[in-house]
Amino acid sequence: MDKFRITGGRSLKGRISISGAKNSALPCMAAALLTAETVTLHNIPYVRDIITQRRLLEDIGATVLTPELRTHKISASHIELFEAPYELVKTMRASVLALGPLLARFGKAKVSLPGGCAIGTRPIDLHLAGFQQLGAEVKLEAGNVVARAPKDGRLRGADVHFEKSTVTGTENLMMAASLARGRTTLYNAAREPEIADLAELLNKMGARIRGAGTPTIQIEGVEALGGAEHTIIPDRIETGTFIVAAAITKSELEIKDCRPEHSATLIAKLREVGVEIKELNQSTLHVAGAGKLAGSDVTTEPHPGFPTDMQAQYMTLMTQAEGRAAVTETVFENRFMHTSELQRMGARIHIDGRTATVEGAARLTGAPVLASDLRASASLVLAGLVAEGETMIHRVYHIDRGYERIEAKLQSVGADIERIRDSVTASLSQTAEPDAG
Ligand code: EPU
Repeated sequence: MDKFRITGGRSLKGRISISGAKNSALPCMAAALLTAETVTLHNIPYVRDIITQRRLLEDIGATVLTPELRTHKISASHIELFEAPYELVKTMRASVLALGPLLARFGKAKVSLPGGCAIGTRPIDLHLAGFQQLGAEVKLEAGNVVARAPKDGRLRGADVHFEKSTVTGTENLMMAASLARGRTTLYNAAREPEIADLAELLNKMGARIRGAGTPTIQIEGVEALGGAEHTIIPDRIETGTFIVAAAITKSELEIKDCRPEHSATLIAKLREVGVEIKELNQSTLHVAGAGKLAGSDVTTEPHPGFPTDMQAQYMTLMTQAEGRAAVTETVFENRFMHTSELQRMGARIHIDGRTATVEGAARLTGAPVLASDLRASASLVLAGLVAEGETMIHRVYHIDRGYERIEAKLQSVGADIERIRDSVTASLSQTAEPDAG
């Protein structure tokens, strides 16, 4: 298994370019299953989850060409299988995004029911209840969700009220409803920028979706969808992670090819704790982490609230702030796996239920630590950048799922980080373990 060796204490300087958003690319790739024509996607990040999603599409009969590294041309004209098997779903929960498109276009779909993962139980009951409201019959057979459209093969539009905001649930229903008969209204829909990006692609394919990005989305079903070309939005969580990298090392970084408006809540919070962030233009931020940081409480919430995917990185930053900060996680029930590793590096964190209280500023010292999920791993990299001495992060395959060559990007601005490869066990371990994402 690959490891990262980081020697902390270096100041960073330079420019970092942000890759495409993994969590937008994954549903957009699934959306290509809705049509027999070619869907061309640009700005696809080169990360492991995308490789897994590509494998899923190819396994069921789609062809995926990559004329350039970050461009995927997907053709789902000859789909032979209508299922996402356990082997793929267990390595990547986003495989459930195949369910909506397959059910809507072919009238049937089978997807292994994902189990719990590193950050919580994460059921998909709200996706399934939504499909049922669109007229599908949904059964559980031998660990698989088996869904069938009504007899005429087409889902029918309906009003769907989500009990709780769900990102991939909203995406699955939006894709399914695009090919349903009649109008669907999604209430309490998730508002993440990735939802609006997917809707933009679907509308280019001929769908009729209004309101994506707001809590109420209206979809007029159409008979068929066609090909389209689309550029994936920049990754707001990668953007946030590099803003924190500048802040925690008290460095100056220019972060380009990003969309600051997608990170507005995070940017406001970081300004409040003392990080200087300037918007140079619509796609470039200048971050200076010069002065003292002040501890400040945060509570994660669905967008536009503070993102759960930045909670671990913010907590690491708070270990370096003066005073106390209460970090409350409301989206997932078990997303504090990084705290025990941060404690081993010297952080003072006390957990009580869903709140972790961080006492700063603590002197962090390098240590061997274990990455447990994608964002937890990012928080350990950040801790390693500021810790005294050497930090060895084990199981960095978690970080490779969602960050494109994070070590290369950090090296390019002066960080002392290197990947230590272990090719013997890598391929086995990388597919063996369930994870968040
Ligand atoms: N939930 C249910 N039932 C459902 C669906 C969700 O109870 O049917 C619960 C979940 O257990 C959780 C909450 O609702 O407590 C929110 O979950 P959501 O469905 O919004 O999460 P997701 O769609 O599975 C996506 C991202 C995650 C990100 C969350 C929250 C993708 C592929 N994944 O997951 O990204 O944390 O939204 O913003 O878009 C990551 O990139 O590291 C990552 C974990």
